[in-house]
Amino acid sequence: MLSTAFTKTFGVRHPIVQGGMQWVGRADLVAAVANAGALGLLTALTQPTPEDLAKEIARTRELTDQPFGVNLTILPAITPPPYEEYRQVIIESGIKIVETAGSNPAPHLPDFHAAGVKVLHKCTSVRHAIKAQDSGVDGISIDGFECAGHPGEDDIPGLVLIAAAAEQITIPMVASGGFADGRGLVAALALGADGINMGTRFMCTAESPIHQNIKEAIVAAKETDTELIFRPLRNTARVASNTVSREVVEILDRGGKFEDVRELVAGARGRTVFENGDPEAGIWTAGTVQGIIHDIPTAGELVERIVDEAEALIAERLAGLSVPVSA
Ligand SMILES: Cc1cc2nc3c(=O)[nH]c(=O)nc-3n(C[C@H](O)[C@H](O)[C@H](O)COP(=O)(O)O)c2cc1C
Repeated sequence: MLSTAFTKTFGVRHPIVQGGMQWVGRADLVAAVANAGALGLLTALTQPTPEDLAKEIARTRELTDQPFGVNLTILPAITPPPYEEYRQVIIESGIKIVETAGSNPAPHLPDFHAAGVKVLHKCTSVRHAIKAQDSGVDGISIDGFECAGHPGEDDIPGLVLIAAAAEQITIPMVASGGFADGRGLVAALALGADGINMGTRFMCTAESPIHQNIKEAIVAAKETDTELIFRPLRNTARVASNTVSREVVEILDRGGKFEDVRELVAGARGRTVFENGDPEAGIWTAGTVQGIIHDIPTAGELVERIVDEAEALIAERLAGLSVPVSA
């Protein structure tokens, strides 16, 4: 067992989080992660309405009696989803852990805290981590440039980002982006984090509700097989490299506008990738960590393997490196 400030504050056995994942963070995966003793997070906005989220929370409870949480991604939008209603459903369903991401969590904190909900805020820079800490969140999850999804615009990889954040953050902190195994967990702990958050690695497990072809595509992919789309729009997203994502990069690099790629990046197209298993059908999210993902274990096997590897690394390899200085 690895006991850290994160496991103690958030009440889970292992310092491992399955981050929010659009279309992927559903009951089956979240319950499997929770049963393994890690923190699984349902993705609120994968459910079309707050009522559907309430049903998905109930479905997860049928599959596990362990704690799990909900990711609420609060990206600014022209017509935003009804965030307050999702928040209300989370509270009324008795969920005690929420991962916020995408924007300032402060407006949501009074209601969550009044209901005894702990908030883990995911961000991509030290300044946003400090701001969230100052606003009273209970934990920070910090995504390095390696990560799947939105890495921000600063391009600071985890090796520096996590260490720099650790110098400023006094509440539990989870390192995110590029983690897949025990080596990563030990490295994160060494850099000053209290645990790891993983997206792509959990997406490539037996219980992940996406087509087998896509899991096999992740196993086959190398660390170089991602694209950064929307860079010129300063809304960068790291996604799997395919003909669609490469075309989006090319159009925007030539000076194209969002309107010119709107159809290519449509969420509905990305969703069909996961449902029908054609990796070329649209944009889908994956990180550089693909290069060190070589199999499709169950979530339980994965969590156990990561913890075992980490403990062995600490007790055997690292402890063995330290030798007495001879006289
Ligand atoms: C398919 C997929 C969908 C994602 N969707 C979301 C999301 O809706 N909200 C969010 O906060 N993060 C989202 N993420 C990011 C993950 O929660 C996590 O921060 C990221 O995957 C960490 O990088 P890694 O993939 O290298 O582990 C997504 C990641 C993946 C792979």
